[in-house]
Amino acid sequence: MDYRVLITEPIVESVIQRLEEHFSVDVGRRGDFNDEEQLIKAIPNYDALLPMLSNPITKNVIDAGSRLKVIANHAVGYNNIDLEAAKENDVKVANTPDVLTQSSADLAMALLLAVARKIFKAEQYLKEGKFEGWEPLGFLGMELNGNTLGIVGMGRIGTALARRAKAFGMNIIYHNRSRVEEELEKELDATYIESVRKLAERADVLSLHCPLTDETHHLINRDILAALPSHAIVINTARGPVIDEEALAEALHSGTLGGAGLDVFENEPEVHPKILNAPNCVITPHIASATHHSRKSIGMLAANAIIGVLQGKSESDIPNLIQL
Ligand code: GLV
Repeated sequence: MDYRVLITEPIVESVIQRLEEHFSVDVGRRGDFNDEEQLIKAIPNYDALLPMLSNPITKNVIDAGSRLKVIANHAVGYNNIDLEAAKENDVKVANTPDVLTQSSADLAMALLLAVARKIFKAEQYLKEGKFEGWEPLGFLGMELNGNTLGIVGMGRIGTALARRAKAFGMNIIYHNRSRVEEELEKELDATYIESVRKLAERADVLSLHCPLTDETHHLINRDILAALPSHAIVINTARGPVIDEEALAEALHSGTLGGAGLDVFENEPEVHPKILNAPNCVITPHIASATHHSRKSIGMLAANAIIGVLQGKSESDIPNLIQL
């Protein structure tokens, strides 16, 4: 049988070719399938879908997929997919763990360094011709060595960031749904804190690495922001809605928070206007996994899940399927 696969927008070419070796493949134009209606129209023609995290794979979309067998998200996060609906329709769902862990932790570290050391403000000053010689009081920032990093979500990426931060001399504290293995705590010299509020009270930097769920929506709210010391820096490379963006913008503008480094936003692709002009705030357009290595591996992992499901492999042979 000739199976048909929809990749919702152009991805690394060798991944498209890998799928084309087995199936007939259509590739959407960038952004076409950010709209539910477009997906509903297209989905009845496909056996497999390889969507981006910006595509809303809702119940309506999945219900309309009369021949749909597998959705392989081009991301590790899968909050854009209605898992309940997938289960009801016996559609398998895959994500891409592991292959973007290092790239994402690198970006979190890069944002932290950029905010802590005011890199972009200093660069702008220089490029504007304002540099008149070495200044004893110019651009004083936070030294990472000896300061405390609070990690929310000690999964793969949180752990990879902790390793980097430890190498910079930071103390590691964390909150997670459950405590991590004792061996890992020892390796990182990491202390488990039983609530996000208590974590915030002790953190000089708070970095988010949890998935977006009903429980984590606006987890970082006014109360948590107020619990952070006023010099603290917040880093978000997880999902925008984990932070109440309005509250974050207010804290940055009023100076009750020291700075923020954000790769994700509450209503992507829009960025809250008060975030755009907030002081000490470095922003990037959701690029945590944007390395050649990660993006190729993400595509291959998603493609392999599609090949596995359509070729009837057993679930245990497709390691990146999500348990529904
Ligand atoms: C990126 O945000 C991902 O979830 O892979």
